[in-house]
Amino acid sequence: MNFQLTEEQQSVQKMVRKFVDKEIIPYIQEWDRNGEFQPSIMKRLAELQLMGVCIPEEYGGIGMDYNTLAIVCAELERGDTAYRTAVSVHTGLNSMTLLQWGNEEQKQKYLVPQAKGEKIGAFGLTEPDAGSDVAAMKSTARRDGDAYILNGSKTWISLCDYADNFLIFAKTDHDAAHKGITAFIVERTFPGISTRGFKGKLGIRAGNTGEVFFNDVRVPVENRLGEEGEGFKIAMAALDNGRFTVAAGAVGLIEASLEASVKYCHERKTFGKEIGRHQLVQQMIAKMSADLEISQLLVYKAGWLKNQGKRNTRETSLAKWIACNAAFEAANNAVQVHGAYGYSDEYPVERFLRNSKAPVIYEGTREIHTVMQGEYALGYRE
Ligand code: CAA
Repeated sequence: MNFQLTEEQQSVQKMVRKFVDKEIIPYIQEWDRNGEFQPSIMKRLAELQLMGVCIPEEYGGIGMDYNTLAIVCAELERGDTAYRTAVSVHTGLNSMTLLQWGNEEQKQKYLVPQAKGEKIGAFGLTEPDAGSDVAAMKSTARRDGDAYILNGSKTWISLCDYADNFLIFAKTDHDAAHKGITAFIVERTFPGISTRGFKGKLGIRAGNTGEVFFNDVRVPVENRLGEEGEGFKIAMAALDNGRFTVAAGAVGLIEASLEASVKYCHERKTFGKEIGRHQLVQQMIAKMSADLEISQLLVYKAGWLKNQGKRNTRETSLAKWIACNAAFEAANNAVQVHGAYGYSDEYPVERFLRNSKAPVIYEGTREIHTVMQGEYALGYRE
């Protein structure tokens, strides 16, 4: 076992940190206040070759390992959850799923431009009445000659207004529960698609999230990913990668909360001494510091399994569950450490707190992961 980052990983970390410090952090308060997603940041991510970190070079990526992707996600989330979410969806949920399940033609047509960052990918699983209960989805894809006719809608879709390609899940057999779901690569330009971004989210306000509607959209048969009925498995395998990037991002949010809190502890004095000298404040700092270490180790362990191609659903779920809960608590305590100042956007910690809530809901709620871990421990799930 080796706990040391490689030289290559250290240089990627340094490069992303520099980019975030210079090109995201100085502007993020304004973008967040105005609810503005910046497509220009996606272009910069492409220029920095960060849109296909784990994708092999032959498919347009830079062929690095999973823990390098984790480092990229953590560093991006130090800046803001919005751009980490973009990478999670584009790379973790979409491109890596094309890599795993796509045929050669699909990889050349869709994966290569996505890995280079020339096209943006999104992921559409959730529906208004089907979130945790994936098999309850109502969207349908009916075979009609050399195409499927797609109808329905998806909600809470990150990058909905900017994605070029969507990975969409729909029922091809309504009576077959999870075995009736099929996956499709759907281009935004296919007639019958419309999107609507949300306003008024609690957090990740600088991100783009919303609905995608399908009205008799003709999807060519060659755009079916995998076989009919394989969609549930494909979605779950995609979530193994998506959840990994979310957990890795949470590590960055804990780090950012800790950094901001430590800085403030040294600046602010009460009762004649720095607030860091008060033991109840130290307790919050100690918890953040311990949770940072624990979460990072869980993420790296899941990444280590992934690098070897081993099944990692249990470990990824554990990392996502623990790290996201810890990030929510760290951000909450960071506001507490800052007192009333933490309650205003003069300091970044109120944004951290708002941003930390979505990751305990999306890509498997806290409750879904708790149940999964309970079932694994009890031997009900393998
Ligand atoms: N890889 C491959 N196959 C898998 C798999 C995986 N990780 N997980 C499950 N499967 C397979 C199983 O082997 C099984 O196969 P068979 O039918 O052949 O036996 C099949 O899929 C069904 O598996 P389960 O029995 O585990 O299914 P379940 O019904 O018990 O699953 C659940 C329940 C764990 C709650 C699951 O439905 C789940 O994870 N729900 C949460 C959904 C979720 O995370 N949604 C997030 C939406 S995306 C999002 O939020 C992104 C965003 O916009 C930012």
